[in-house]
Amino acid sequence: MSSLDHFVRGLPKAELHVHIEGTLEPELMFELAERNGVRLPYSSVDDVRAAYSFTDLQSFLDIYYAGASVLCEQQDFDDLMTAYLHRAHADGVRRAEIMFDPQTHLERGVDFDAFMPGFLGAIERAEAELGISCGLIMSFLRHMPVESAIETFAESAPYHDVLLAVGLDSSEIDHPPADFLPVFELARRHQLHTVAHAGEEGPPEYVWAALDVLRVERIDHGVKAEPDAELVARLATDQMPLTMCPLSNVALGGFARLEDHNLKRMMDRGVKVTINSDDPAYFGGYVGDNYVQTAEALGLTRDDLVTLAANSIEASFAPDEAKAAWLDELRTVPVV
Ligand code: HPA
Ligand code: ZN
Repeated sequence: MSSLDHFVRGLPKAELHVHIEGTLEPELMFELAERNGVRLPYSSVDDVRAAYSFTDLQSFLDIYYAGASVLCEQQDFDDLMTAYLHRAHADGVRRAEIMFDPQTHLERGVDFDAFMPGFLGAIERAEAELGISCGLIMSFLRHMPVESAIETFAESAPYHDVLLAVGLDSSEIDHPPADFLPVFELARRHQLHTVAHAGEEGPPEYVWAALDVLRVERIDHGVKAEPDAELVARLATDQMPLTMCPLSNVALGGFARLEDHNLKRMMDRGVKVTINSDDPAYFGGYVGDNYVQTAEALGLTRDDLVTLAANSIEASFAPDEAKAAWLDELRTVPVV
């Protein structure tokens, strides 16, 4: 392990933008396909990895939703969550706020009483065994109508008090945030936090709408805000966290090379940036890899990396005492 690798993994951090369905590694995909009698359009694990060549968000989503079809029983969701939490823990993650896409499962006849006990069982064990702290973000698919999101929210009622937040994901272009205001209002009335993907592929106007119409507490991605100076100033003034995912942006064509990514430029303009993995099984790395590769490509200093880890803890929805303890721990990490 290089000294940068070692340093990054030793930083206490929060991961705030990871889709649990995007942590499905090809090996587990095959195992679950066999267990559940689901036919996959791939002949081997290598064949699956070879199919992971994306041009944009939609080309990824088509494969991601197809992969999720192997997730059927409570145990499958438990296995998926357990695998992710062990990897996150190995990367120094103290707090994971994990997104899941209920509509992807409901559409296939897999209901809340299958996936929620699976997620919650894995989380309970990991919290006890690894000391990691977790929260769940129920994300609505924006390519589906708001009525479906509202219905999904109603179906999730037995689990409202174990949810941390709601989010908005899937195909961004032509699906503006404002369409989802009714379900975000509903979630807020139930004391849930709110986040939304905005400015991943969509224009700065979608980031404005996520801020001013949906009134979210964090923006997922936000990289397309950069050309709008007024918007960047607003993000900086409000200290609105952006949950960036550099390897994801490069894999989906948002930036030609990691060296071109705007993460450091946005930090330099005072924006509260964090580093996350998005869909690590598909984009070539978990959160630690995102820190290391971004640091190498953009020449981030050890101080920048500490700032990014501190930002992630501060931007999390964890209780204040827990955040203070992780920040204290972060301050004691030797700079090597
Ligand atoms: N963007 C939007 N929706 C998603 C993504 C993403 O990167 N991953 C899973 N759902
Ligand atoms: Zn995402």
